[in-house]
Amino acid sequence: MIRIKTNPEVELIRESALLVSSTLAELASMLKPGITTQMLDKRAEEFILDNKAVPSFKNYRGYPFATCISVNDAVVHGFPNNNTIKEGDLVSIDVGVYKNGFHGDSAYTFGIAPVAEEHQLLMQVTRTSLLLGVEKAVAGNRVGDISFAIQDYTERQHHYGVVRELVGHGLGKQLHEDPQVPNYGKKGTGPKLRENMVIAIEPMINMGTRDVIYDADGWTVRTKDGKFSAHYEHTICIKRGRVDILSSFEKIIQNENANQALYSGY
Ligand code: MF3
Ligand code: CO
Repeated sequence: MIRIKTNPEVELIRESALLVSSTLAELASMLKPGITTQMLDKRAEEFILDNKAVPSFKNYRGYPFATCISVNDAVVHGFPNNNTIKEGDLVSIDVGVYKNGFHGDSAYTFGIAPVAEEHQLLMQVTRTSLLLGVEKAVAGNRVGDISFAIQDYTERQHHYGVVRELVGHGLGKQLHEDPQVPNYGKKGTGPKLRENMVIAIEPMINMGTRDVIYDADGWTVRTKDGKFSAHYEHTICIKRGRVDILSSFEKIIQNENANQALYSGY
């Protein structure tokens, strides 16, 4: 069942989504070679609690951390750990917060400079595919229009692998609500998009094969061929003739540009 939100509910989701964005911006300032992903997770959790919210992911179906931090061939759901970040790494950070009864969910892939040119392109294409999907998220379209836009650009135009096992989703009172929002599919198919539906769009794009494997921890998803993967995610609200992006990359990009340790395409 797809839950349509009231305008006041959308504003509460916006507050949660913007807190996710601020958390990611905070981490963007800290990222540099030598830092561990555990340190980033600790800071994120502290930042979220300081802002009178709780991390959505912690204890969600037994997930043990506030954030998912997926480095290089890790696609999503990576466990923060004691490994140090190094030059050339792609660090995908996924954050969810629960505040005032509503969730926000967003993710961003950071490149630790210098980043190989092929990985710069992977980041840019994945980020662009998110925006192409977001553009289709208007009332009257169908979920498949979003899915097709992402798959067409990444798979058919750039020959990357679109992960099939994990998808975007509705969200609100629950972190995962209907509908599912796959990053592959056909135009004009799937549930119709209606005003004030709130969904998370989150392309997970692999340099090589779309196939993935799971680590022994039961969570971390990796590319089967060991090539790198990127992941960007926005929480958005469907409107008539336009889309309202509830999360924001603005502060993240500002801090990414100000941080000499990070590659930034913007
Ligand atoms: N953004 C991801 C998702 O929507 C993060 C979920 S991590 C989990 O699936 F730990 F909460 F499962
Ligand atoms: Co999500």
